Amino acid sequence: MKFFKSTSEPVYSKEAIAARVGELAASIEADYGGKQLVLVGVLTGSFIFLADLARELSLDCEIDFIRVESYGEGLVTSGAPRITTLTKLDLTGKEVLVVDEIVDTGLTLRALVDHLSQSGAASVKVAALVDKKTHRRVDVTVDYTGFEIEDGFLVGYGLDAAEKRRNLPAIYLLSDR
Ligand code: IMP
Ligand code: MG
Repeated sequence: MKFFKSTSEPVYSKEAIAARVGELAASIEADYGGKQLVLVGVLTGSFIFLADLARELSLDCEIDFIRVESYGEGLVTSGAPRITTLTKLDLTGKEVLVVDEIVDTGLTLRALVDHLSQSGAASVKVAALVDKKTHRRVDVTVDYTGFEIEDGFLVGYGLDAAEKRRNLPAIYLLSDR
């Protein structure tokens, strides 16, 4: 890809991501067997993770999306996430699993979990591919975590920098080179 040096090594390779997504799916399956699971992807960044995770799950599930905006075009959260697109499905009595690609301050997930908890769902849990745990500003439980990272702005596999680079097949550190 022209916009990214081919010599750059990914932080998480395609293979490492696929293996970890498979493991997460196995844990989710073990926990939700026989229940009415709804995967709620957080737009836009979760679209690839959700697509891969859903195809690894051999249980009946419904899929929906929700949109939260807090970054605009910048790299730093505005601190005030707004839910701008609601789920279409009725979540009453359902087990909801929020699927997000990365958790940073936790502000986005906190707003989402609070909102979804008022939707009549039987339970609301969270799966996140990457967790920047040390950046947390508000408390939020991530029930299924793919990878933990200390620092750095990541792109690829759904993760963007100002809406670009989501389509990289692995996860890289953002670089200006
Ligand atoms: P939080 O509200 O600070 O936890 O931010 C969560 C959201 O910020 C994520 O769902 C991403 O959309 C975005 N975000 C946080 N860190 C990164 C990153 O390293 N790369 C790309 N997007 C990020
Ligand atoms: Mg996101």
